[in-house]
Parts: sequence; C-alpha cells; structure tokens
Amino acid sequence: MGFNLAILISGRGSNMLNIVEACNNKTLSSKVKIVISNNKNSSVLTKVEKKGIKTKIILENQINKFEKKLSQTLHEEKINFVCLAGFMRILSKGFLCNWEKKIINIHPSILPAFKGLNAVKKALEKKVKYTGCTIHYVDKGVDTGEIIDQRIVKVLKTDNEEKLAKKILKEEHILYIKVIKTLEKEKENDKIRQ
Ligand code: GRF
Repeated sequence: MGFNLAILISGRGSNMLNIVEACNNKTLSSKVKIVISNNKNSSVLTKVEKKGIKTKIILENQINKFEKKLSQTLHEEKINFVCLAGFMRILSKGFLCNWEKKIINIHPSILPAFKGLNAVKKALEKKVKYTGCTIHYVDKGVDTGEIIDQRIVKVLKTDNEEKLAKKILKEEHILYIKVIKTLEKEKENDKIRQ
C-alpha cells in the first residue's frame, strides 16, 4: 500500500527526484502525490512535472499563512506522510502536532552533531574523522527530532566541503529510500495487527 507522499523542497531537489524515481519504478510502494516548494526558482519542479508529478509553489513569508496553505494542500491531496528534503523553513509546533511521526527530514550530519545550517562545513572545521547523514522525525526544534536511521561517511584529509557534501549526498539518497521502505513495512504490520 505505502503512503500518499508529499515532498517539501526549497532548492536543488536531488533527494526528491530520487524518491520520485523509487516510487515510479516500484522500489517503494508509496506514491508521490505532490512536490511542494517554497522557492519560486525551483527549476527542478519542471523536471519532476515531466515525470507526471503534481507540483505547487507556496510563497508566504508569514509562517501561519504558509502553514494554512500547506495544510489545505496536504488535505486536498489526501497526504498521510511528508518528506522534507532540503526544505529550509521551520514548521511551527501548532502545525506539527497534527502530523506527529508523519513528517521526516534528512540532515547531512550524524545528529545530534552539527545541527542547523552548514553541517558539512562545521564537521570539517571540527576535523571529525567520520560524518554522514541522518533521517529523523520532525519536531519543533531544528534537527532535534527522534532519529530514525543514519549512514556514515569517512572524512579524508583531501576532502573539502564540496567533495564531502557530494559523498554525503550519495549516502542520503540510499538512506532516504531505505527509511521510507522500513516505514512502509511498519505501516503494513500495524494494519495487520489492527
Ligand atoms: C541535503 O544535503 C539535505 O541533507 C539537506 O539539504 C540538502 C538537500 O539536497 N537537508 P537536495 O535538495 O535533496 O539535493
């Protein structure tokens, strides 16, 4: 069965495209019903539209107005799970309480280390030997929600921010699909138990 997914992005959208691909080729049993961006310059939206996916841009500076439109869209599309993938806005407590354990986010570090912006740069500055990526449930904090799964990347002496970010992104793509697959299975098992 899988989920009726919405994916929220603000930029490049490589994780989003990867999830769309995994749904389209049936690696996942979920369906991406809509991709929502808060950035009017998301050229990746045109790309995903060509794959038959509905898209929407929501531009609202005030978070309550943004969330009102977001809620409406999620409701209209009968969304039951939301993936944040490079989505650069903080959602409010009021909004999130209706979506507990239904919104996940990917972050390019081994949380709880290096929360927030510039996680790859911060890891290099601290000269860590290993970093990676994390998928976590979204709560009202920044990258503070319950951790679901992580993947590790070794930091080499020759790595700069660009090289390291690229290696992490490769792991992000693997991790996002793995986590959605696991959650799909959990949903199926919950249904059987009911
Ligand atoms: C990724 O590094 C993700 O971890 C972070 O933002 C970046 C988004 O990349 N939250 P993309 O838009 O999926 O290519």
